[in-house]
Amino acid sequence: MTQNTDSNTRKVHIKTYGCQMNVYDSERMLETLRPLGFEMTAEAEGADLVILNTCHIREKASDKVYSELGRLREAQGRKSEAGGRMMLAVAGCVAQAEGEEILIRAPQVDMVFGPQTYHRLPELIARADRESGARQVETDFPVEDKFDHLPEERQTAGVTAFLTVQEGCDKFCTFCVVPYTRGSEQSRPVAAILREAEGLVAQGVREVTLLGQNVNAYHGIGPDGREWSLGRLARALAELPGLDRIRYTTSHPRDMDDELIAAHGDLPALMPFLHLPVQSGSDRILAAMNRKHTADEFRRIVDRLRAARPDLALSSDFIVGFPGETDAEFAETLRLVTDIGFASSFSFKYSPRPGTPASSMADAVPESVKSDRLAALNQLLEAQQEAFNHGCVGRRLPVLIEKPGRNPGQLVGRSPYLQPVHIDGTADLIGRVVDCDIDSLRSYSLFGRIAALTPEERACA
Ligand code: SAH
Ligand code: SF4
Ligand code: F3S
Repeated sequence: MTQNTDSNTRKVHIKTYGCQMNVYDSERMLETLRPLGFEMTAEAEGADLVILNTCHIREKASDKVYSELGRLREAQGRKSEAGGRMMLAVAGCVAQAEGEEILIRAPQVDMVFGPQTYHRLPELIARADRESGARQVETDFPVEDKFDHLPEERQTAGVTAFLTVQEGCDKFCTFCVVPYTRGSEQSRPVAAILREAEGLVAQGVREVTLLGQNVNAYHGIGPDGREWSLGRLARALAELPGLDRIRYTTSHPRDMDDELIAAHGDLPALMPFLHLPVQSGSDRILAAMNRKHTADEFRRIVDRLRAARPDLALSSDFIVGFPGETDAEFAETLRLVTDIGFASSFSFKYSPRPGTPASSMADAVPESVKSDRLAALNQLLEAQQEAFNHGCVGRRLPVLIEKPGRNPGQLVGRSPYLQPVHIDGTADLIGRVVDCDIDSLRSYSLFGRIAALTPEERACA
């Protein structure tokens, strides 16, 4: 058996489920653990601490957690046979929703903590170290702001990064657990966000995706003491030297205000690719979902966005089989999709979630009908995605080069529309935005060539 030579180093494995906010939170958890001597490991096997950062959004997402906990029991057994101890933590939205219940269902779990309490991780670990076997639950929404307690320094290796600017949600769509798992809407102050972004850029990050469950409801306090909108924040970020690209997700149609739409027209750094979930094309279903807008209002928002930024492409989320949805109402969703044209999309069967208003609504749609509707919607959305990707062939697109490709001399980057782009080139181009001529499409990836560099670019390369 190989002995760890540095007795202060411990290994943590973090498995992340769900949305980008969980990806961000997992990175921040690791940053709080590093000062305690933890290093990341890619495998749960042999780890001293395993954290499952969980998602509660649909039934299948939460089921995964319990099956993973079952699998981990064996790895825990092997670790203790070898004379060690594998601490097991459940974090994220299932932890927030189920709390104590997890300790009852999974006796091998040591810690349960929610998305707003992971800054207390060092205390939880210290207590678990002191009192082996003391099981802990931290799921209150704390009065303190976790961001004030996380290490200021971010540690990131890539050229793209997530940055949470807003959390929680006050919209209470009738199908959704997020307002219960993430709590009420909170915006971080502008200065804290700019500091974090500057730190990321200093480490080589060129593209930042601003995150929030309702990111365009952002209303953080600016340096002038007033509330800033997301559009205004984007303007300030666009001025940071070295930050080439800005994205944001997930936005709500109702919060797509004039300032943000104008920012799309004015800021070349704000990428022309927007995830704007609509869920349904039926006004009656939209009202039952408490989305508080109609299908035509959504169409008008898209028109205004496209007027501001003609090359804007859209993606969206859809739910099929919401309680009471008729064939005719589903057909309205297909019509909306046909009218708008999406570059990519996510579609889900409605999944009743405990404690949400929709879960007790009458007229549940049979599973087989949900499956048929999902298949029909996906067929349409995939055809649109394929058409959009094909439309990129023959175009010259700016590509942010992210990493080496599979073979020597190859590089992979992303187009403005988040498509992976494969080109030949040297590693010194990593971290730069390079114009590429797109030659072909294979499944979801684009293949292209670097367009001639300008003399200035050649001087930098
Ligand atoms: N804040 C975002 C969505 C977050 S959840 C917004 O307002 O649009 C991501 C997606 O999961 C949602 O857009 C929705 O399409 C889907 N979703 C949420 N709850 C669901 C449920 N109970 N059943 C099926 N899909 C659901
Ligand atoms: Fe959920 Fe609706 Fe809030 Fe989005 S806006 S997180 S779907 S409640
Ligand atoms: Fe899932 Fe929580 Fe995100 S429920 S989608 S991980 S906010």
